[in-house]
Amino acid sequence: MKRHRTVEPAILYLGTPVVLVSTVSQAGLPNLSPMSSAWWLGWTCVLGFDASSKTVENMLLNGQCVLNLPSDDLALNVDRLVRTTGSDPMPRHKQRMGYRYVSDKFTEAGLTPHKSDLVSPPRVLECPIQLEAEVVRSSEIAVDDPRMMIPAIAIEVRIVRVHASAEVLSTEFDNRIDPRKWNPLFMSFLEFYSKGERLKPLALRRLNEEAFGARRPVRLTDNREEEPR
Ligand SMILES: Cc1cc2nc3c(=O)[nH]c(=O)nc-3n(C[C@H](O)[C@H](O)[C@H](O)COP(=O)(O)O)c2cc1C
Repeated sequence: MKRHRTVEPAILYLGTPVVLVSTVSQAGLPNLSPMSSAWWLGWTCVLGFDASSKTVENMLLNGQCVLNLPSDDLALNVDRLVRTTGSDPMPRHKQRMGYRYVSDKFTEAGLTPHKSDLVSPPRVLECPIQLEAEVVRSSEIAVDDPRMMIPAIAIEVRIVRVHASAEVLSTEFDNRIDPRKWNPLFMSFLEFYSKGERLKPLALRRLNEEAFGARRPVRLTDNREEEPR
């Protein structure tokens, strides 16, 4: 039997995909922030942020962002953004943690801004998946949590456009990202990871992706529509 003991890790970053959130400031300058406290339900995403970050300031100002999903081969680019902020002056706790102000994080990371369709923040060209999004609402979180060391905020955004590069798209079904081709970059505690092998269990694989949304599956191979199971 497994033996457990109680522990008190400072953080509980158990392993989630990294998202590069692009925003635009009041002056019209693009900013880019790596983050990984994000989860999706349908086309809605909730982002957990340090409320003092430039990204939050920009999102609350103009209500827009792009969630750019880096693949694992972009780990070095994301690494160049560690402990950087677009805030000037920067908040005290970031000064203490050795952050530095960077005015152009696209150049700093070696990434290319690319025009979005529906929102003003640019997409990150190198990211295989780019989600244009609009802010729906936000709420302070963990206000009474004695372990929370920063002002924290949850921002709910609605995805308004999905861009996916050909290299991650299914060749079998229209409008699907192929999980065998998509290799997200993960952060687990303070390390980067890529995903491992596909595992055996079959029940999950038998679910029909389109049953979770309004579309019906369209097979590209023979153009026959498949009934949701
Ligand atoms: C891999 C990675 C994951 C991060 N995850 C988060 C996160 O989920 N939430 C957050 O507020 N900051 C996160 N950070 C720290 C932000 O990048 C940091 O607060 C940054 O200064 C924000 O940039 P900005 O001030 O220009 O918006 C993460 C940093 C890295 C490198």
